[in-house]
Amino acid sequence: MKRIVILISGRGSNMEAIVRACAEQGWPAQVVAVLANRPRAGGLQFAAAQGIATRVVDHKAFSTRENFDDALADAVDAFTPDLLLLAGFMRILGPAFVRRYEGRFLNIHPSLLPSFTGLHTHRRALEAGCKAVGATVHFVTPELDHGPIVMQSVIAVYPGDDEHTLATRVLASEHMIYPLAVRWFVQGQLRLQGGVVDHTEGASQLLV
Ligand code: GRF
Repeated sequence: MKRIVILISGRGSNMEAIVRACAEQGWPAQVVAVLANRPRAGGLQFAAAQGIATRVVDHKAFSTRENFDDALADAVDAFTPDLLLLAGFMRILGPAFVRRYEGRFLNIHPSLLPSFTGLHTHRRALEAGCKAVGATVHFVTPELDHGPIVMQSVIAVYPGDDEHTLATRVLASEHMIYPLAVRWFVQGQLRLQGGVVDHTEGASQLLV
């Protein structure tokens, strides 16, 4: 059984989708802990109700980014993860933290990377006149919101769409692609070569 640890900052709907899919689909894996950097992160309640261990490492309690990263790494390592997931985790993690989990560390970002790294992705896509938006599951590397792409969803932009309507449709697609990408990882079906990820059995890595 692969051990999965998930880092959240807020409502944790992606975490919830992964926990549910793992249980319902009988993955060879278990979500062993959900950690948050905010004591009031809504997702902690769901995780605890599922019997999953929860921990808070409050970034406000640390004077430097490095000290926070070290405390977070200690909390993560206590659960000996095979796979670490960012799911709406809103702190930038330093290179030492990222390298510690390289190759077993995934994130989901609400844009079609490499476009629109960072915040306010849907607003920026609308301002740029994009006709399609989406979400990306990728391996985490030290550069923010970069790293080898595992799977993407593509959502059409319609006249009248605003940030909220796009966020709602993209989030629904996130709940499909993140669990699928994680399942592929725990089933050993992802091959990472030269910075490019493919699926060993040729499954489509695009949801349209
Ligand atoms: C998602 O849109 C995710 O892509 C982004 O932050 C949001 C988190 O939502 N990184 P949730 O906490 O998983 O509900």
